[in-house]
Amino acid sequence: MGYVISVINMKGGVGKTTLSIGIADYLAEIGKTVLIIDADPQFNCTQALLDYYKSKGYEDPDSEQNYYSEKVLPYSKTIYKLFTPQTDMMHSYSTPNAEQLIINLKANLDILCGDLNLVLVNKVSDHTFVKRIRNFIDDNKLRDKYEYIIIDCPPTLTIYTDSALMASDYYLVPNRIDRYSIVGIDSLQKAVGNLIREERIKLKCIGLVYTMVNNITSVKQDSIRTSFESKKAVNDIDIFNSSSSIVNNIQYGMSGTIPTKYKASREDIEAISLELVEKIDNDNIEGE
Ligand SMILES: Nc1ncnc2c1ncn2[C@@H]1O[C@H](COP(=O)(O)OP(=O)(O)OP(=O)(O)O)[C@@H](O)[C@H]1O
Ligand SMILES: [Mg+2]
Repeated sequence: MGYVISVINMKGGVGKTTLSIGIADYLAEIGKTVLIIDADPQFNCTQALLDYYKSKGYEDPDSEQNYYSEKVLPYSKTIYKLFTPQTDMMHSYSTPNAEQLIINLKANLDILCGDLNLVLVNKVSDHTFVKRIRNFIDDNKLRDKYEYIIIDCPPTLTIYTDSALMASDYYLVPNRIDRYSIVGIDSLQKAVGNLIREERIKLKCIGLVYTMVNNITSVKQDSIRTSFESKKAVNDIDIFNSSSSIVNNIQYGMSGTIPTKYKASREDIEAISLELVEKIDNDNIEGE
């Protein structure tokens, strides 16, 4: 049975997408079956992975055409399909078939693409939306097919973050050390608390990973970190031993924002992924 993990923080730009891509790509490489779900309307995760794995035939940088515009959007092979409102009593929503939506990227790695149109859906209030990702996974028996299902979440409280958390066993929190990092964690913990209380779900925090760490440690950085870790919202969160450091190639390199493709960030991702797998395994041994 596979595990579903949401990568989430209510703060933007902390490295959620980069970490999701890295973990998914690395786990697939070591032989685990992985599905990555892009639940962010910005769909950066989709762009990065399609650019890398599906760019063949679309090399012209000036062209508006790419794999996403030609092969994904016209066939509605995106997460948007999961958030179709039930319009009336006669036309009930039924869970889409995974085989029609999921795209293969490489051996062991599949993606459910993101979609900018998600911004439209958030204005519709349909109380069933919150269960849509979970039902998609359950009805299509995706836990039998994938050992890890990783959901890249947007940095805001939306129906998608709720829907992602509803579907998850665990959430993983990437966090960049700065003066305001506590704000993102505080609101995340509150949102998770509400969801657990209201929906009676079993959702656990698997830990916090420091991202984009500056390797030249300074007294200032250390003191911000100590202050952050002393806050109540962080108390119950397990902090990963491994972290990701700033690697310029991720911003400017030829292989885009895929951290497994550069030596320096690959080592970080390997350590984080192995620690994640170990934490999940330990949790399930304890739970038996
Ligand atoms: N280890 C790293 N070293 C250098 N740059 C990084 C690293 N990780 C991420 N970045 C860069 O930082 C920026 C934010 O990263 P990313 O998009 O992963 O964050 P995010 O939390 O998903 O953002 P959002 O909240 O907008 O979804 C991107 O430009 C990304 O390329
Ligand atoms: Mg992101």
